[in-house]
Amino acid sequence: MSVNATQTNPVEDIKYADFMARIEAGEKIEAGDWMPDEYRNTLIKLISMHGMSEIMGALPEKEWVPKAPTLHRKLGIMAKVQDEMGHGQLLLRVAEDLLIPYGKKRDDLMQDLFTGKLKFHNVFHMEAKSWGDAGLIGWLVDGAAIITQTDMLGASYGPYARALHRICAEEVFHAQHGEAIIMALAEGTEEQRQMVQDAIDYWWESLLLFFGPPSKDEMGASKQDITLKYRIRTGTNEGLRQSFFNKYIKRILSLGFTIPDETLRFDQETGKWIYQQPDWNKLKLIARNEGPRSQERLDLRRNSYTNNKWVREALAPKVI
Ligand SMILES: [Fe+2]
Ligand SMILES: [Fe+2]
Repeated sequence: MSVNATQTNPVEDIKYADFMARIEAGEKIEAGDWMPDEYRNTLIKLISMHGMSEIMGALPEKEWVPKAPTLHRKLGIMAKVQDEMGHGQLLLRVAEDLLIPYGKKRDDLMQDLFTGKLKFHNVFHMEAKSWGDAGLIGWLVDGAAIITQTDMLGASYGPYARALHRICAEEVFHAQHGEAIIMALAEGTEEQRQMVQDAIDYWWESLLLFFGPPSKDEMGASKQDITLKYRIRTGTNEGLRQSFFNKYIKRILSLGFTIPDETLRFDQETGKWIYQQPDWNKLKLIARNEGPRSQERLDLRRNSYTNNKWVREALAPKVI
């Protein structure tokens, strides 16, 4: 068993070895357990980004609540927006427990979001211009999220794994909601079908970026991915992206739509999809909050956080 080279204190080395033995035995780590800083910091980064992405991810669809075409669709998209906020709440509570040794609280995470220190997923920096976009977010963005999140259902950190079980159950409804919108448009007029095609064309690259760049593991160079080492997840970025292709490419094509990638094909020999690499620089721009809607969404969140301060204060437990 390898002991973290950065830890030279013999007592800490023993703790680390015991911790890794628990991880390798498939045990769950709980909030009050000893854990190496690397594990804690990785979880804080992952879970706070996930939680914030749930909250920021509700915003593109929130824009469509007043504009939904029927009352039935309005109720559906409102319920989805509410669910996503609930997911954010659940995850930020998990992150908050991990922050205790650092004396930080949830408010600090919110401030980190506002200052750009804490990121949110690339897809939620994009525009939702049409009802087709609103449907596609549910169908394919939630579909992509289900793939990455179900991969972590067995995460070594117990509180995160348990939160994901609840979240994934609801995400399945979100994907069905999105699929129902897309199917209705796909069976509709030429204009409605075009709305779906435009949405696929607009979102395809973002969906590829969503899974992150291929890690070094796929190139056989390194097994340094910390989340894999600590069994927080099992799949690699490229593996998860390929799962997404396997699940959705045929569905998209079978509806008579096209995918904006002329090089896209399934390679029988490797059993993998060959595809045009997205422009990875766009991910860097978005990480600096320079995406198409980054600033508008952050402003909205900032304003609502300020305007609703009185609610947080009213609900905060009073020390008498
Ligand atoms: Fe969610
Ligand atoms: Fe969702």
